[in-house]
Amino acid sequence: MGRGFLNMKVLVATDKPFAKVAIDGIRQELDGVDYELVLLERYTEKQQLLDAVANVDALIVRSDIVDEEVIKAGKNLKIVVRAGAGYDNIDLKAATEAGICVMNTPGQNANAVAELVFGMLIYGVRNFYNGTPGTELRGKKLGIHAYGNIGKNVARIAKGFQMPILAYDIYSRAEIINSDGIDPTISVKTLYRHSDIVTVHVPLTDKTRGLIGKILLSNMKSDAVLVNTARKEVINEQDLLDFMIAHPKFKYLTDIKPDMHDQFVEKVGSQYFTTPKKMGAQTSEANVNAGIAAAHQIVDYLRNGNHRYRVND
Ligand code: 3PG
Repeated sequence: MGRGFLNMKVLVATDKPFAKVAIDGIRQELDGVDYELVLLERYTEKQQLLDAVANVDALIVRSDIVDEEVIKAGKNLKIVVRAGAGYDNIDLKAATEAGICVMNTPGQNANAVAELVFGMLIYGVRNFYNGTPGTELRGKKLGIHAYGNIGKNVARIAKGFQMPILAYDIYSRAEIINSDGIDPTISVKTLYRHSDIVTVHVPLTDKTRGLIGKILLSNMKSDAVLVNTARKEVINEQDLLDFMIAHPKFKYLTDIKPDMHDQFVEKVGSQYFTTPKKMGAQTSEANVNAGIAAAHQIVDYLRNGNHRYRVND
């Protein structure tokens, strides 16, 4: 690609905006190569995104939905970067058909998400600070469901709490798990059966949609804690609600408000906590890491053809 594309326009479209310091960093990265930053923050209508994407060359988003309509509206789009880990919000097939490269920025917000797991956990095991005696994390067996960047960070922090750690990963990275001094489990059921706390870090795919339902839940201890900082869709909400009604000591702590939020509040309110908005990656540090990485990847792709973090065909 040689010196690649010059004078490109890069749209940052975020319903949940980055910290200012991250925008400053993105701007600096783009200024360095004479690329223009276009900002669309806190938009409320999809039409605003469709209008904004119409004449830009690159797009940076967070959990913003980039469906076929958005892809088609981006007539000049060459690359879309999801500043974060999960790219289930992007229609990869439509992007591929339109010749658009899609990337994510793996690992950049992993520590932020991992820290939130423990923030929610302490709040949960201390009975949401209601004044009654709760429990400690030390000595509680922690099951990490999926051992990617976030799972690894969770394990690192859990060691400080002196928690025995188990991990399961579908790609069975047993050697990696082992070399971190953690016990890999042979099956996901074993993980759920033996853990006092399970923390979920699977991506949303056709295979994981609704994965945590009756079968896995029935393996869990009746007073266990389930933490979800991944995606709401990986939980079968009706199954979870039924399980929690049947097991009044079981707790569910989530960073993604369930569709059945009102029923959870009404029926198992004292066992349930959700953040009002997804907060896992919402730190200045994670915004800076993911935002600047996204800008950097765009520049490197458009100028040098580097597609290292490409996730579509
Ligand atoms: C991710 O997939 O990177 C996290 O879920 C963070 O999502 P967010 O950028 O929308 O906060």
